[in-house]
Amino acid sequence: MPLTLRSPCKVNFVLNLLGRRPDGFHELETLFFPVAAFDELTLDLSEPGITLTCSHPDLPVDASNLVHRAATAFLRAAPLEGRTGVRIHLDKRLPLSAGIGAGSANAAVTLLGLNELLGHPLAPADLDRLAAGLGSDVNFFLQPGPALAFGRGERIEPLPPFTALKGHALLLFHPGFGVATPWAFRELARFPQLRDGQPGRAAAAARRFLDGDVPGGVDQWFNALEGPVLEKHPILALHQESLRNQGALGARMSGSGSTTFALFASEAAARMAGGAFRQAFGDAGWLHVVPLDV
Ligand code: C5P
Repeated sequence: MPLTLRSPCKVNFVLNLLGRRPDGFHELETLFFPVAAFDELTLDLSEPGITLTCSHPDLPVDASNLVHRAATAFLRAAPLEGRTGVRIHLDKRLPLSAGIGAGSANAAVTLLGLNELLGHPLAPADLDRLAAGLGSDVNFFLQPGPALAFGRGERIEPLPPFTALKGHALLLFHPGFGVATPWAFRELARFPQLRDGQPGRAAAAARRFLDGDVPGGVDQWFNALEGPVLEKHPILALHQESLRNQGALGARMSGSGSTTFALFASEAAARMAGGAFRQAFGDAGWLHVVPLDV
């Protein structure tokens, strides 16, 4: 029986960088918030080998695809009797190179799905180890809620649901062009104050939301990568400003961009603002409203 699973995405309420590491990565602390907008993955066991198909023509389906890499890593690590292969179809609905972690979620859901299909041969700690080898954001998607993350982003501290956000809504907008994550991090060399931040910001924001102080939490929103990315793409700063003028409690870039997210007090307010945003900027790009039922 094939297994069909939804593969979500995320925004970073806080993305604070704490310096460049000897391995070339950046030490970071981030507050991840899960977003219920989805790709869909269908997995089925097959003859040995990995066959990946995808609805999106721009996405390679060879061994370079993160889903393919996740399946390879899983089948190598799992103690399986006999040789098993897998057929995977990825129905891509979320934008690419968007800073919302959709590709990382695809990889995490592949690990979780294969583990389910094969009767749980791997323990959560094994999945965590495989996820860390696939990318910095993959570990977050092995668990369902908001979380703090440290290190490269792979050390996760799960948090309780942010119940104070119930009834609010997030608006996400991707402008149709992407940002290459390695470029954004490399450019930080020109922004030493943003690259070498002070620790504590992600936890401070989380504390406010958990205390029920939504405006206080939004006040703590921060993304160090906005330095290089908004300089190169000033239109993204205009997107934020426009959404604030339309009543957003806050608006920020997610991850390395180019997606902007904004929080509204209600779904109706977010949809109104989305209409005004379309009037101002036109119909190009991907605009999505996600009610928060937390
Ligand atoms: O780990 P992931 O594949 O998501 O990272 C993509 C790129 O982003 C890395 O190759 C690196 O250039 C940069 N990066 C970084 N520090 C991090 C995470 C990512 O410099 N903590």
